[in-house]
Amino acid sequence: MKLAIIGGSLLKEIKSLENITEERIKTPFGLPSDNFTSGEIDGLDVVYFNRHGVSHHIAPHQINYKANMFVLKILDITHIISITAVGGITEKMSPMKWVVPDQIIDYTHGRMQTYNDSNDKEVQHIDFSYPFDELLSKELSRAIEMASCDYETIATYGVTQGPRLETVAEIKRMERDGCDIVGMTAMPEAAFARELEMKYTTLSLVVNWAAGKSGSENEDPGLVSMDEIRQRISEGSETTEKIIHNVVSLLK
Ligand code: HPA
Repeated sequence: MKLAIIGGSLLKEIKSLENITEERIKTPFGLPSDNFTSGEIDGLDVVYFNRHGVSHHIAPHQINYKANMFVLKILDITHIISITAVGGITEKMSPMKWVVPDQIIDYTHGRMQTYNDSNDKEVQHIDFSYPFDELLSKELSRAIEMASCDYETIATYGVTQGPRLETVAEIKRMERDGCDIVGMTAMPEAAFARELEMKYTTLSLVVNWAAGKSGSENEDPGLVSMDEIRQRISEGSETTEKIIHNVVSLLK
């Protein structure tokens, strides 16, 4: 087993990664978001990179997911845990709740989606009924439990294009569609992982109520506050590291 951790707004670095080496790796699909840091946590080989780049300068729709995931394959990664900050849509998805989603609805557009576009071999249609790896998700849930955190596992992650947040009507439509949380980066990342046969799951932290949501009918939802989002991201970062540590101890 070789584990990759993909950081985003949450988890800008992994402090406990030891014996590290950094590499910048080119791919036939262009440059990845960042350097890839290889090291060990408790003796397990772990690779880390941030999908938004070192200074969070790459917007969700500009990320070269195709190159990023190709590098993970070159580095012999077998398992991937992706970290995402999300908005909460349904009642249970309140701020500071941890979520291991089990389904995806993709609302993104214009992003490169596949390695099956080179026109030089037969097109492979991957099965994507269950986009997240069930066993890895189970271990991740146990790791959250070990950190004594509140979490949900039955959740549909709606992926929007960004970088703007959604309108109230868009969130209402997503709720009717069955989305529980909203973020901007799970796709096409999850699909590339499946095409390259790497097991993939996501650890999400709810950092705000989505547009027009407040968690209670009597409460005025107000606007989405970036200050609150930043505050919750910072509050969640230590716990994210703890959960990663726990998951490593379970996977070893
Ligand atoms: N919408 C989309 N992506 C997000 C949100 C949101 O409300 N919060 C964090 N990432």
